[in-house]
Amino acid sequence: MTGQQLKIAVVGAGGKMGMRVSNNLQRSTHDVRYVENSTTGQRRTVDVGRTLTDAGTAVRDVDVVILAIPDIALGAVSEQLVPQLQPGTIVLTLDPAAAYANLLYDRSDIEYAVAHPCHPSVFLQRKTEAELNDTLGGIAAPQDVVAALGSGDAEKQALAETAIRLMYAPVVDVHWVTVKQLAYLEPTLVEVVVCMIGDLLNDALQETIHTVGVPEPAARAMLMGHVQVALANGLRGDNPFSDACLIAMDYGRAKIIKEDWKSIFNDDELDYVLKQMLHLDHIHR
Ligand SMILES: NC(=O)c1ccc[n+]([C@@H]2O[C@H](COP(=O)([O-])OP(=O)(O)OC[C@H]3O[C@@H](n4cnc5c(N)ncnc54)[C@H](O)[C@@H]3O)[C@@H](O)[C@H]2O)c1
Repeated sequence: MTGQQLKIAVVGAGGKMGMRVSNNLQRSTHDVRYVENSTTGQRRTVDVGRTLTDAGTAVRDVDVVILAIPDIALGAVSEQLVPQLQPGTIVLTLDPAAAYANLLYDRSDIEYAVAHPCHPSVFLQRKTEAELNDTLGGIAAPQDVVAALGSGDAEKQALAETAIRLMYAPVVDVHWVTVKQLAYLEPTLVEVVVCMIGDLLNDALQETIHTVGVPEPAARAMLMGHVQVALANGLRGDNPFSDACLIAMDYGRAKIIKEDWKSIFNDDELDYVLKQMLHLDHIHR
């Protein structure tokens, strides 16, 4: 990490991520400028005591530009802003999709970085009320971050890590990977698989309540406890599943999971899901 005072612009400061990262950056001693183009986003920014700056002024001499805008807008917005940046400026996006699909306006003298929060671990030992309530991270519960830097330049990586640790604080580790590896983490690992399974768990709960007729408190209590045990056993090996449970798990796998499900870890499938997410005809790798 570097000790220098940074100039940081947050573009999309009034959005969901823009508000979260700005709340943390505002508490730092760095020079932070807030850019937002929608009236509701502008109101959200001003209502919490932050001053808005127009994009051209905000990005002119900054060290880091955080693009906290929707992924589908990153191509057009980077085309407008990146030509105005000083050489060596770090353009930091918050999701790998646009960087992986080469949607960002390209300049060889600009550093492109991506940093995605991991969110606090399900196994985090939460000690305070604030940590308990901070499910997404960035407020009180410590989390890791996974990041990628196009050039791999060590000095720029240290500078980017300073901004990343501030905006997602409290941060334990920043894991540096490639943009492609980050794209396999999100969307493939955590959205295609983990978030989908979270949603499926709720579908199964609703079926148990509404189709079978189990009282909701009983079904919910059984599900929540078993989610905890399934994750502790499945991901951490805390205890073995019982023999009968293993038979039921095999039945569930055969009934619910398609045989070729691991094809989601192929590049063509990654491109397919990213095309849907970014509303694109092609992915230019
Ligand atoms: N929402 C999440 O939980 C989450 C988590 C991790 C990463 N991300 C990533 O963060 C980024 C932002 O997502 P979000 O969910 O915060 O989006 P959002 O839609 O909540 O906010 C985007 C903000 O950007 C503003 N904006 C759009 N174009 C602009 C422009 N040209 N100039 C200034 N402001 C502009 C919008 O008015 C809006 O306030 C995306 O890359 C997303 O993938 C989101």
